[in-house]
Formats: sequence, structure tokens, C-alpha cells
Amino acid sequence: MEPLSKFAFNNNQRLMKPKILVTGGTGYIGSHTVVELQKSGFDVVIADNLCNSKKEIVDQIEKITGKRPKFEKVDLKNREQISQLFDKNTDIKGVIHFAAYKAVGESMQFPLMYYHNNLFSLINILQVMMKHNINNFVFSSSCTVYGNPDYLPVSEKAHVKPAISPYGNTKQMSEEIISDTVQTGNLRSISLRYFNPVGAHNSGLIGELPFGIPNNLVPFITQAAIGKRKILKVFGNDYQTPDGTCIRDYIHIEDLAKAHVAAIERLLKLKQKDDYEVFNLGTGKGYSVLEVIKAFEEATKIKLQYEFTERRPGDVPQVWADSSLANNELGWKAQKDLRDMMKSAWKWEKNLEAGKIF
Ligand code: NAD
Ligand code: UFG
Repeated sequence: MEPLSKFAFNNNQRLMKPKILVTGGTGYIGSHTVVELQKSGFDVVIADNLCNSKKEIVDQIEKITGKRPKFEKVDLKNREQISQLFDKNTDIKGVIHFAAYKAVGESMQFPLMYYHNNLFSLINILQVMMKHNINNFVFSSSCTVYGNPDYLPVSEKAHVKPAISPYGNTKQMSEEIISDTVQTGNLRSISLRYFNPVGAHNSGLIGELPFGIPNNLVPFITQAAIGKRKILKVFGNDYQTPDGTCIRDYIHIEDLAKAHVAAIERLLKLKQKDDYEVFNLGTGKGYSVLEVIKAFEEATKIKLQYEFTERRPGDVPQVWADSSLANNELGWKAQKDLRDMMKSAWKWEKNLEAGKIF
């Protein structure tokens, strides 16, 4: 494998702006990561087929950073399109791969669609990378691989449990595909297992853009608060948790995005301890659904209407992260708290409603 550090960095280890391909870069996590990459001096090209995002996000990114990332409309299920992108951008030095379908419930309804998109996209991008001798790969994984963990906080050493949804299974299978590819000696990779990313960029210019009725708690809260949804349903209040509602480790999207910069730099600077590494990305703190509602109400002074309903099938009672490995090895730590998450999510929702974004 070619030691990439020789052209990624000069003798003083100052960044010389290598080009990074961000797949799914107009999506929620991808767009925030593009901002952080640009702020750190990286040159970015986005590949996205816009199946769950909008092209205008590129304009929004430019407004934040003052620099327009290159955008290529590419469907990663089509290997030829990826090949053409690499032929046009011969200076790509690493890939951060976000592009995937991500809705757990939808994946139960349309499993083949999920396996097709998430796995074909991954295999195609890896094959084209191998052909072009590009060795650095960061992958979006999920704490869903831990299922209902045996101990908390859950660390990377915990068992990967049988997946409860096709979506979760695509993450487990993807990690295995990456790990096997690393064994060939032609790839270095980091999988980042996200806990619950929420919130929006503090500028209010980019954020989560759920199409249709949101599945996730925080977008539902902000849409309910602005009047787009009638009443927030709290799925279950009879769990074995202090207030009976489920506990999750919510992490601010800007913190999460910064971890990707740390990960790609670790790869480019050849700082890995193993050619394949896995890191949890969370804050280490768990909050219940009721605590999130309270945090939103306190941060915005808006009272939410909610009701308790049946448990949602597939929800684990509680999960939060041991992120000490990422803290120690990536030199990264989540900085923002639940209030920051709620305030930024609300600012974004208000901007969307006011027509300031699209
Ligand atoms: P998102 O839907 O906002 O972004 C994904 C992007 O990928 C979208 O812009 C979509 O248009 C694009 N895309 C999908 N299939 C594509 C294809 N075949 N070709 C090209 N582009 C394609 O989702 P997100 O929340 O930003 O998630 C990004 C990644 O992080 C996903 O892999 C997701 O599974 C993972 N993840 C997300 C969460 C979360 O809570 N958001 C949690 C854990 C893991
Ligand atoms: N919840 C409600 N009402 C809602 C929505 C959610 O009470 O309207 C509850 C859920 O029951 C859960 C908590 O809020 O207890 C968080 O739910 P989310 O849907 O926001 O998040 P999940 O933990 O279920 O799932 C998220 C991502 C998945 C990913 C998983 C693990 O959406 O893609 O984290 O990484 F697989």
C-alpha cells in the first residue's frame, strides 16, 4: 500500500488539503461533515443521488464555509458512475461513506431495497477504490449493532448481537465486508458507530430533513412544536428505567461531524493501531424520552403536547456509549450538551418553516 502521508502532509505535518470523497454528502450527517472537513482545510467532492436530500444543501454549505464543495450526482448502486467520478477526480485520497438508506421500519417493509442499496453501494465504492489504489475509508456504522447490550455503557468490545432489522443487518454485514477487505492489505478503514445524532448546525443553515412523518424523536418534537404534527407520541412508559421511558445517548451533529475529520486524518497520517478500527461516537450520557422533552421545553420555552402510547417494536430499553476509545485514540470528545442539541434543532426547524432554506 502506498504511504499516503507523503503527499497528504508536508514535513511540518501541515495539511496540504487532500481531496476527500464524501458519499451521501448532501444528507444530514454528510453535510455537517463536509462543513467540518472544509473548515479543516480539506478539499471535498460530494457524491449523492439525492434520493433523500436536496441539491440546495450544496449552496447552504457554501454559505457556511465560503467554499463550494464539488457535487457529483452519482448513484452508488451504479459502479460505472463511480468509476467515472474517480476518473475525473484522480486526486481523491480518501472516502467517507455515508450514502445508505437509514429507516429501520422501512427496512422491515422493503428488506431487499435496503440490502440492494446499502450493500451494493458499499461493494461498488470499495471495488472502485481498490482499482484506483485509494486506501482510506471511513464508514458510518451504528450502535444498532449492539442490540440490547449486556452492560452499560457499551464499549466496542461488546458482542455484536443478531440484528433486529434489515437496516441493522446491513450495518453488521457492511462492517464484515470492510473487515474482510482490510485483510487483503489494500485498505485501511475506520467504522464509526454512532449513537443518536441530533440537532443542527449552529448557523441554522443545515440540519436534518426528514421526508414525510419523522420516525426519530427530535425531528418529531420540533415539527410538533411548530404545529406540523398534532401530538407527540411517547412510545412506552413501562420500561425498566427511572421514568419508564427509553434512554438513548444523544450526540450533537456538529460533534459527530468533527469525529469524521479526526478519523480521516488518523488514516491519512498512518496513525492507526490496526488497519481496521471501530469507534463508538456518543457523549457517554443517557437521557430518557421525557428528559429530552423537558430539555426542549426549557431551551425553547415551548410546552409540548404529548401522550404515552404502546412501545414501538424493536426499541431497546436503554443504551449509551463508552466513547473512551474515541476520546483517547481519535483525540475527540463530544462538547455540546442536550440544551445545545435542542436549541439548534429548533433554530433549524424555524428556518425551514420561515422558508429561509428552500
Ligand atoms: P441521510 O438520508 O440524511 O443521508 C444519506 C444520503 O445518502 C442522502 O443524501 C441520500 O440521498 C444519499 N444516498 C442514499 N443512497 C444513495 C445511493 N445509492 N447513491 C448515492 N447517494 C445515496 O442519512 P444520515 O442520517 O445523514 O445518515 C448517514 C449515514 O449514517 C447512513 O449510512 C446511516 O445509516 C448512518 N447512521 C445514521 C444515523 C442517524 O440517526 N441519522 C445513526 C446511525 C448511522
Ligand atoms: N420515540 C418516541 N416518539 C417518537 C419517536 C421516538 O417516543 O415519535 C422514542 C423511541 O421509542 C426511542 C427514542 O425516542 O425510545 C429515540 O428514538 P429515535 O427513533 O429517535 O432513535 P432510535 O434510537 O430508535 O434510532 C436511532 C436511528 C437508527 C439507528 C439507531 C441506533 O434512528 O437509524 O439510532 O444507532 F439504528
